[in-house]
This record gives sequence, structure tokens and C-alpha cells, in this order.
Amino acid sequence: MEAASSSTSSRCRYSYEEYKETADWLLAQTKQRPKVAIICGSGLGGLADLLVDKTVLKYETIPHFPTSTVPGHAGQLVFGKLDGRECVCMQGRVHFYEGYDIHTVTYPVRVFSLLGVKTLIVTNAAGGLNDSYNVGDIMLIKDHINLPGFAGQTPLCGHNDERFGERFSCMSDAYDRELRDLAKQAAKEQGCGGFLQEGVYCMVAGPSYETIAEGRLLQKLGADSVGMSTVPEVVVARHCGLRVLGLSLVTNKVVVDYDSVQKANHTEVLKTTKSRTEDLQRLVRYLVSKI
Ligand SMILES: *[C@@H]1O[C@H](CO)[C@@H](O)[C@H](O)[C@H]1NC(C)=O
Ligand SMILES: *[C@@H]1O[C@H](CO)[C@@H](O)[C@H](O)[C@H]1NC(C)=O
Repeated sequence: MEAASSSTSSRCRYSYEEYKETADWLLAQTKQRPKVAIICGSGLGGLADLLVDKTVLKYETIPHFPTSTVPGHAGQLVFGKLDGRECVCMQGRVHFYEGYDIHTVTYPVRVFSLLGVKTLIVTNAAGGLNDSYNVGDIMLIKDHINLPGFAGQTPLCGHNDERFGERFSCMSDAYDRELRDLAKQAAKEQGCGGFLQEGVYCMVAGPSYETIAEGRLLQKLGADSVGMSTVPEVVVARHCGLRVLGLSLVTNKVVVDYDSVQKANHTEVLKTTKSRTEDLQRLVRYLVSKI
């Protein structure tokens, strides 16, 4: 009984007032009034370095904000201008596998909404499941599979606060078609067209990488890439009416062959990410200027 009553994973942990307190605190720290928020995935935090007129706030100094513990994630919120557009970047995201409940993982998204953000750009490092993908490809997320959601780990579980959104949210339009078209156009103009893919991202809880049987299962489910993030944030963003654009950087190919000697390796993942970081940054920067 004790354990059940202190467990917070099955109901909403945060009140509207807490999100609001964080948002008001942030608005008092910066003159920026961003309309676009960018969540930077593993090794992709360099995006935030491109901002000018920056206000940088460490997560641990922000009221109620979760802190990130993964190598490759800096753990700070950066406000600033990207090509003249006011943005806020999460340099480092929080993951479910770090032990945070799913409401904590998505906490920043509702705060962004209260800041006045209208568009969320999410980036992640992912494993490629689609045979035709190469390491270093950038995959525009067309749709997702919320595997932790199937297992009951979804951020909209629990009390629904109508001030954020409706009880039952539509997800068939989660990844904005107009923004995807814009991204395709941008990729062409930025010379990234040759390695731009469009596909389905599947979230698994992690932190262990997939077994061969799991990799094969995900392929059968129709997933083109797999990772350990993004989906909870997108679900919450859609619930509160933000438009979403998602980009996966394919940093490794998921092993789906018993004869393969390939092994998943986080150091390897960060290395690949580094080499395509500039392309992805260029793409996002250009996109933001067009939104
Ligand atoms: C892999 O990606 C290609 C290119 O986007 C697509 O045409 C194909 O249907 C995908 N393969 C599978 C098995 O989904
Ligand atoms: C992971 O990759 C790095 C760099 O490519 C290599 O030095 C290291 O030995 C690998 N780790 C394992 C456990 O295979």
C-alpha cells in the first residue's frame, strides 16, 4: 500500500501552477519570447551554440525542471536568436531510462507552451531499421510507434487538465505535413537531399539496445528507425496544440542478422553524430528561418 501510494508514475505529477511557475520564472530571466522550441538529441546540442543574444540557464537552477545525466547531453536551456528568430533550445533532454517518470520527461514541453511556443522541433539519434538507410542519413519523422505507451507508460495518463488540452488527443496528424514539406525543400536547398529519408520512428524504453529478435520485430511493425526518446514529448506537444517537426539522425544500423559481428556502441553513436551535426544544424537553422 505504502509503495502504491507513493508511486507517482500512473497519475499526473504536476499541477498547472507548477508548469506556470516555471514558465513565469523563465520569462523573468530572459527578454526572448520564443515561438519555436528545439529539443536537441544525443550529441546534437551544438545547435544551441548557433544562437545569438543568448540566455543560458542550467536545468538545476530552473524551478521544477528535471536534470539530464547522460554523456553527450549538456543539461541547459538556451534562449536566443537563430537567424533573427527567437528560439529556446533544450541542450540535453531527459530520458525515461534515467529513472524519471514519463510526466517528468515531458515537463519542459508544457512549459514551452506556456512561454508562447507554437512549434516544437525534436531531434534524436536513432538506430536504422530500414535496409535502405545508411549511417549518417537524416530521417524526417512521418509517424511514430509509442511502444512504452502500449505498455502503459504515456504522459497523458492520469488527470487531464483542460487548460492544456482535451482528454483524447488525435495523433494521426502528429508530425505536421507542411513542416515536413518545408524540411524536404530545405534539405534540397541545403544540399542534404541525398541523405534525407522519411519514415516511422519507434520508441523503446531502453537503455539497453535491441536484441536481434527485437530489431526484426520492429521492422515487421513498420518502423524505419528506433530510439529511446522523442515520442513522449511529441504526444504532450500535440495535446497542447504545438506543431511538431521531428528529425532522426541515423547513427548506427540495428543488427537484425545472427551472423553479423556488429555491436551497438554509444561511443560509436556519438562519433557518427558529430560528423553529421553540421548538416543537421544547417538544416534546422534554415528551417527555423522559414517557419
Ligand atoms: C524503407 O525506406 C524506403 C525509402 O523511404 C521505403 O520506400 C521502404 O518502403 C522502406 N522499407 C520498409 C520495409 O518499410
Ligand atoms: C566502442 O567504440 C569505440 C570507438 O569506436 C571503441 O574504442 C570501443 O572499444 C567500443 N566499445 C565496445 C564495448 O565495443
